[in-house]
Amino acid sequence: MASSEGAKLWGGRFVGSVDPIMEKFNSSIVCDKRMWAADIRGSKAYAKALEKAGLLTKTELDQILNGMNKISEEWTNGTFQIREGDEDIHTAHERRLKELIGEAAGKLHTGRSRNDQVVTDMRLWLQDEIPVLMGHLQQLIKTMVERAAAEIDILFPGYTHMQRAQPIRWSHWILSHAVALSRDAERLEEIRKRTNVLPLGSGAIAGNPFKIDREFLSKELQFDAISLNSMDATSGRDFVAEILFWCSLCQIHLSKISEDLIIYSTKEFGFVSLSDAYSTGSSLMPQKKNADSLELIRGKAGTVLGRFTGFLVTLKGLPSTYNKDLQEDKETMFETIDTITAVLQVASGVISTLKVHENVMEKALSPDMLATDLAYYLVRKKMPFRDAHSASGKAVYLAEQKGIGLNQLSLDDLKTISPLFESDVSKVWNYTNSVEQYTSPGGTARSSVTSQIEQLRAWLKRRQST
Ligand code: ARG
Repeated sequence: MASSEGAKLWGGRFVGSVDPIMEKFNSSIVCDKRMWAADIRGSKAYAKALEKAGLLTKTELDQILNGMNKISEEWTNGTFQIREGDEDIHTAHERRLKELIGEAAGKLHTGRSRNDQVVTDMRLWLQDEIPVLMGHLQQLIKTMVERAAAEIDILFPGYTHMQRAQPIRWSHWILSHAVALSRDAERLEEIRKRTNVLPLGSGAIAGNPFKIDREFLSKELQFDAISLNSMDATSGRDFVAEILFWCSLCQIHLSKISEDLIIYSTKEFGFVSLSDAYSTGSSLMPQKKNADSLELIRGKAGTVLGRFTGFLVTLKGLPSTYNKDLQEDKETMFETIDTITAVLQVASGVISTLKVHENVMEKALSPDMLATDLAYYLVRKKMPFRDAHSASGKAVYLAEQKGIGLNQLSLDDLKTISPLFESDVSKVWNYTNSVEQYTSPGGTARSSVTSQIEQLRAWLKRRQST
């Protein structure tokens, strides 16, 4: 049934009825009802500000606050009824408030617009969500750092171009990802600051004409600052774009970890096994154990990135200021944050329960991965690196010609390449010696990895104490 004039909160100037399909198309309550608590918080604060400005009597304020508390109870008990014509959470609340307290409800929206209201609700909603995300992210980083500390002795091949490159510590691999995630945590903190800016009191576009105390509103709603310009405040969605970008980048980091682990868990590599808790079987092939958890993390990174891109496209076409296109922001924000919340927790689970096959990892190391070390041997004997690189390359070629390992070349063979080779070259053929030379900060030597662990532990501690 089409709703008729007057049934709408904005119905005054409308004479025709709305096409039911349009009614449904226009409605956002299915999605934005999720912000009911934020909407109530915002309205209660706004009512207090109206009373301070002399636009509500104390009695009217009490009526509104009680009504809002009653609505809050209804949501909590699951008895709040969404009615036909409740276009969004804001109109639903105002409609219900009127049913509960009568006339005074009509004063709540004085000087306020859904334009400043909706964006206030979203920022309030994020104010609660960001610390939750941060908690999950820090838990994941902690899991990784402790795993790196416990497994510092394990060596395995490091890859570039997916080709065996140099021996590294398994912990070094773990920490490489933990460090990227720690930057995500810092970025999230920055985003939190920019999100915590109060738009309320900006009205529809031009501002608030009733001397509303915006500083009071800001304190009441625990914002850090008030917005500077009402046009920007009502239409700016940078904070949504930023959180979507954040989710995308963090998920790209998690996708990269997943991709590595998926490869490492194949029979061909056999470096790690996923716990049964995070794998599934095949309905047809009984031998299969699939890394579904990791594949989903990788897959969802694509979905989130798509949502982010879609939202930027929406923003790009807009004239100033509020346009209904902006209503699309909430579904994207909720979906994306739900996804990353799950992803972060699953990632922690996978990483904390992963089984590492130390022997397989070490067996995968091969003497050819020490060709750089052979060049460094000559460098230490004062040969310029370019010449040493070429000499080592000749040794690799010679070993290939002879069909033997690089470490099986005799001293005489090596001496045909350079007279600088001596019997101590045998020390090159040791993977532990190899990793132990990378003692500069950031390297894969035990001392350097330990320092990375300590720095990340201290970083986590600092964050947990703030
Ligand atoms: N449901 C709307 C949204 O989510 C609220 C703002 C509506 N403002 C307006 N001028 N129609 O964007």
